[in-house]
Amino acid sequence: VESKLWGGRFTGATDPLMDLYNASLPYDQRMYQADLNGTKVYTEGLNKIGLITQEELSSIHQGLDVIHKEWESGKFIEKPGDEDIHTANERRLGEIIGKHIAGKVHTGRSRNDQVACDMRIYVRDNLSKLLEFLGGFISTILKRAEREIDVLMPGYTHLQRAQPIRWSHWLSSYATYFTEDYKRLKQILERVNQSPLGAGALAGHPYGIDREFLAKGLGFNSVIGNSLTAVSDRDFVVETLFWSTLFMNHISRFAEDLIIYSTAEFGFIQLADAYSTGSSLMPQKKNPDSLELLRGKSGRVFGSLSGFLMSIKSIPSTYNKDMQEDKEPLFDALTTVEHSVLIATGVISTLSINKEKMQGALTMDMLATDLADYLVRKGVPFRETHHISGECVRTSEELKLSGIDQLSFEQLQKIDSRFDEDVKDVFNFEVSVERRTAIGGTAKSAIRNQLENLSSQLN
Ligand code: ARG
Repeated sequence: VESKLWGGRFTGATDPLMDLYNASLPYDQRMYQADLNGTKVYTEGLNKIGLITQEELSSIHQGLDVIHKEWESGKFIEKPGDEDIHTANERRLGEIIGKHIAGKVHTGRSRNDQVACDMRIYVRDNLSKLLEFLGGFISTILKRAEREIDVLMPGYTHLQRAQPIRWSHWLSSYATYFTEDYKRLKQILERVNQSPLGAGALAGHPYGIDREFLAKGLGFNSVIGNSLTAVSDRDFVVETLFWSTLFMNHISRFAEDLIIYSTAEFGFIQLADAYSTGSSLMPQKKNPDSLELLRGKSGRVFGSLSGFLMSIKSIPSTYNKDMQEDKEPLFDALTTVEHSVLIATGVISTLSINKEKMQGALTMDMLATDLADYLVRKGVPFRETHHISGECVRTSEELKLSGIDQLSFEQLQKIDSRFDEDVKDVFNFEVSVERRTAIGGTAKSAIRNQLENLSSQLN
């Protein structure tokens, strides 16, 4: 009881298992820097309102710097009674500069506004780093798309060959998802970056601390306007988990496409050795483990989101210890997402494509729509041309031809007299993709516009 910061009103000791159950230090020590910075700025705020002197302030700051070095070098020694990073740092400060001065740093502050403040700093800094990695990932995709814009491949719906597209169009499609993620992340950062510090335990600060000053000192862009909300709002955690879940969903679909494309049956891409692993039994195997993990870890992040939502769904206002359960899912998701972005960047920048296989997978039936469009250009209504083109497909199948392009001009004319000699120009994949020049299409010019547009959104 003696060793606990809150021990004054207690006479009995806590159950040792309760100490373990209660402690968050094993996982919240990663916020040591945010916690020490928070205390630095908070004590400046106390100094500003005359609650600590200039000498006391510099002694506190020196002590905090020592603690920082201890954490950094792995020399911080944890003691019984250190429940969390906040109590550990305050206990240590007392040992270094004396309890008389250290005992003043928590004036008007509660661990409730303190932990909310530390978490927001920690999340902000991690999301900012993530934003940079994500920008790098998107740029890598865009560069690849620019470089390989000549390569054609089948586009799929229902995983059935549908229409020819450019490989770069596929790349640009995921770059579009990830750019939306990028913008969404920036918006979340705005809401994360608000200051709860100076809200006290719940009711507000009794000495009129300048909360704007605290916010500014810690790089927050605004002050949370209600002290009850300030200490109990964990929406920034939920939003981060939601963002992570959605992002991992995109990553998972991206990975799934690439897994399919890397099979021998497709053979469109080959992963670099750096992102593959072998089999302990089958010597010939090269497995896309990186991609499978990107796909699999999306489930884990979604679990963090749903688990935490369950934890907070009916807690009364304001702070309740349930809220300590925000940390493990959040930290796990942040680490998983950061590693996933970096792995995905590595995968996409090092995989090799097999153009021949991609283009070889294009089949003439994929131009059946183009054949229908040909007659549309001759003035036939699309509903009619769709039917006529379907008849061409059926006839070529009945005649066991290798494709609709093998139908003779006479056979085509028999199906519909409006077919002309120039119909043979339809059976060309390059011509097909180059027709799709409207915004968002797979023609070179349209893709180049997409790439430019996406890249202009990264900054
Ligand atoms: N370790 C706690 C947490 O993560 C800090 C806040 C404790 N506050 C309290 N009133 N017990 O939520």
